[in-house]
Amino acid sequence: MNKNIKCLISAGPTREWIDPVRFISNPSSGKMGYALAEEAFNRGFSVDLVSGPVHLEGPQGVRLHKVETAIEMEKTMLALFQDAQIIIMTAAVCDHRPRECWEEKRKKAEFPTHLEFVENKDIVGALSERRKTGQKIVGFAAETETPLQHALEKLEAKGLDWIAMNDVSDKEIGFGSDINDVTLLSRRGESIPLGRKSKQEIAKGILDHIWP
Ligand code: C5P
Repeated sequence: MNKNIKCLISAGPTREWIDPVRFISNPSSGKMGYALAEEAFNRGFSVDLVSGPVHLEGPQGVRLHKVETAIEMEKTMLALFQDAQIIIMTAAVCDHRPRECWEEKRKKAEFPTHLEFVENKDIVGALSERRKTGQKIVGFAAETETPLQHALEKLEAKGLDWIAMNDVSDKEIGFGSDINDVTLLSRRGESIPLGRKSKQEIAKGILDHIWP
């Protein structure tokens, strides 16, 4: 029944290169996005998974698109977005990239004491500006303070239908963990606690609500 419905999911971190051997990034494991991709495939959806560098195998049956930088992720998501009905952005996209990426490795003695950064585009925001009727766009908000307020701000600012909020100040559910504790918030004002569960169970809860 779902086989003509395309689901586009992003996962993992991005890498923003300083020179050919150095980058800035974050410890995102990709587990939440990969669990969602697997669950979406099990429900019969046609699934594209756009992933930054992680140590996970692409789930069976899912089309895996490997990317590194935020710019590559943006390009790939934009290319796949038109045909997708469900878009779930779990990726921990780096908000900034170094203004300059040196072509050769910088020698220790030549390494600058200051780096200048420029902002990366907000990918999910760019997608929601191009949304077509019927598309469902879901974001994630990993917060360490006043999670509800920040998640609601992001829901609004990024033009999302749903945002999955989690409090990553809780050590057990931080980056790389196998469990998560998510509350789903909708544009229509719903607030649905999914509880503290494995990322597989959380993936089921998210799909149950966004595409019942
Ligand atoms: O980093 P932030 O908390 O703003 O992320 C919230 C949501 O926005 C997540 O779904 C994340 O994948 C997305 N995001 C994005 N492009 C960025 C930064 C975040 O799509 N440059």
